[in-house]
Amino acid sequence: KKILRHISSATSLSLTLTEELVVMCRPDNFSQLVDLTITPCDSGWLEQLMLMLKSNNELQSLTIKSGHVEDINKTHLRDLMSDAHRCESMMLEFEGLLLDYSRQRATVETMDKLLNLAKAAQLPEKISRMFNGEHINSTENRSVLHVALRAPKDAVIKADGKNVVPEVWNVLDKIKDFSEKIRSGSWVGATGKPLKDVIAIGIGGSFLGPLFVHTALQTDPEAAECAKGRQLRFLANIDPVDVARNINGLNPETTLVVVVSKTFTTAETMLNARTLRNWITTALGAPAVAKHMVAVSTNLALVEKFGIDPNNAFAFWDWVGGRYSVCSAVGVLPLSLQYGFSVVEKFLKGASSIDQHFQSTPFEKNIPVILALLSVWNVSFLGYPARAILPYSQALEKFAPHIQQACELSTFMYLCNIQLAYVSMESNGKGVSIDGLPLPFETGEIDFGEPGTNGQHSFYQLIHQGRVIPCDFIGTVKSQQPVYLEGEVVSNHDELMSNFFAQPDALAYGKTPEQLQKENVSENLIPHKTFSGNRPSLSLLLPELSAYNVGQLLAIYEHRVAVQGFVWGINSFDQWGVELGKVLATQVRKQLHSSRTQGAAPEGFNYSTTTLLKRYLE
Ligand code: F6P
Repeated sequence: KKILRHISSATSLSLTLTEELVVMCRPDNFSQLVDLTITPCDSGWLEQLMLMLKSNNELQSLTIKSGHVEDINKTHLRDLMSDAHRCESMMLEFEGLLLDYSRQRATVETMDKLLNLAKAAQLPEKISRMFNGEHINSTENRSVLHVALRAPKDAVIKADGKNVVPEVWNVLDKIKDFSEKIRSGSWVGATGKPLKDVIAIGIGGSFLGPLFVHTALQTDPEAAECAKGRQLRFLANIDPVDVARNINGLNPETTLVVVVSKTFTTAETMLNARTLRNWITTALGAPAVAKHMVAVSTNLALVEKFGIDPNNAFAFWDWVGGRYSVCSAVGVLPLSLQYGFSVVEKFLKGASSIDQHFQSTPFEKNIPVILALLSVWNVSFLGYPARAILPYSQALEKFAPHIQQACELSTFMYLCNIQLAYVSMESNGKGVSIDGLPLPFETGEIDFGEPGTNGQHSFYQLIHQGRVIPCDFIGTVKSQQPVYLEGEVVSNHDELMSNFFAQPDALAYGKTPEQLQKENVSENLIPHKTFSGNRPSLSLLLPELSAYNVGQLLAIYEHRVAVQGFVWGINSFDQWGVELGKVLATQVRKQLHSSRTQGAAPEGFNYSTTTLLKRYLE
């Protein structure tokens, strides 16, 4: 009773949670608390406590300490790695793809706890709700069904009671037919020439995913053979420099422009579309639009209003989130134009194989689920706010930029634990729970990355001796482009992969002052040459980088992001955070227009913006 009186009157509190305490508490015991630190004994009590805390709108900071984290903090990866049994249990395999997460700062007990956490967060139910087409994107009242985009023709996946798979395949068949016409030259441009070059206009999700896949396929021998004599370019930025780069060297007579926009209202895309329409009509006359411009959108009315024949439009649906739209016409159309539909179909099949694995594999062997739980562990429990995505494959150079947006900063999981800082940047970058409750935690995981070995010569210094950043190393057994120079010790690919294998150990083991002393390193250099080690990473080894594997990689990360969001209890499928900047840009746009046309002085802005605008206009 004494403790309860204390809790009820305190605004800031640090306590060890016991069963007795939780059983005695009522929600109003917590109504004053602004700042709470607790050490839970059992996640069952924690869940009850979280429910009680939900009614407290004052709570600004909640830190949950876990005894297990303290145990892990006392261990070093050097010791964890010496346990072969543990390491063996931390290898997962699917269709030749190997995930090794033994260099995570986790034990078998950690994994058990994380799997319990997944259950407490109702992960199985949430995954089923996604696959069943329930409106889990609650703020937009939409289903989340990107899995239907790559489902086999005979699959049944329902949104609002209707099987969407036939509609998906109608569009895929239309793309197949259209891309064959363009590629064979049976569809010609306004002057009778075949269209060999494509500019895809789009931004965000309507750009980054297709760019990632295109970059990955460009050097795949099979795909490259199919793309001979053709070019695919992407125009995303409204910067006139991007327009210039895109049209540079292209002839409107032989170019097809694909306008990709889910909403068909995005300011940058629409202005770029008008600019390229002008480029075409100036050269070939207004009717040329019918032969040289097509669209991908959910908003076919606006496509028609823009002047593109609806027959030349490829639909998708509001249950496809922009950043999850690579497998819709958003990616499939430009990629099929470049590589042919049969190559893109392999990519879709790869993604679908992971969908099935994700849906049907027990969590302890489920690659996206394990990856997601490890991210939650790193961010929410160990407090690492960032993650580096490090493909040892130049063909994957656009993978990290795509994943950055696929994730969106995230929030927290009200049910389960701890101080949270997760950025993954568009899906999981939220400040409230799915119920709209403010989260008393920092959220979001900062994703970044560069292909190895390039990154080794730039930011790896920080990863080795500066901040601790969990790393995803991604490599392939077989190179897309094997090179072996006579007289060299190893092939280029072996050289690349030597680094892929060495870096995780360098991070995990580090180098001690004792080792340096044995190497006769001078005393003054020992602090500089010491590596603390104990830096977590995981390794994903793919058999090769074929279209199929690219699809698998995409789907693994898509589901990983979703699972993190499910565990944190947030909505990973909306993106309200990008709206405010767009609204403010509209005000500036209006001002620039009235200043340019009527000489009006900037008004309605703060001192800083007014000064900058004046300088710009002068
Ligand atoms: O600004 C963010 C965003 O809404 C993304 O989520 C989306 O992928 C992108 O803009 C482009 O939108 P649209 O495809 O509607 O042009």
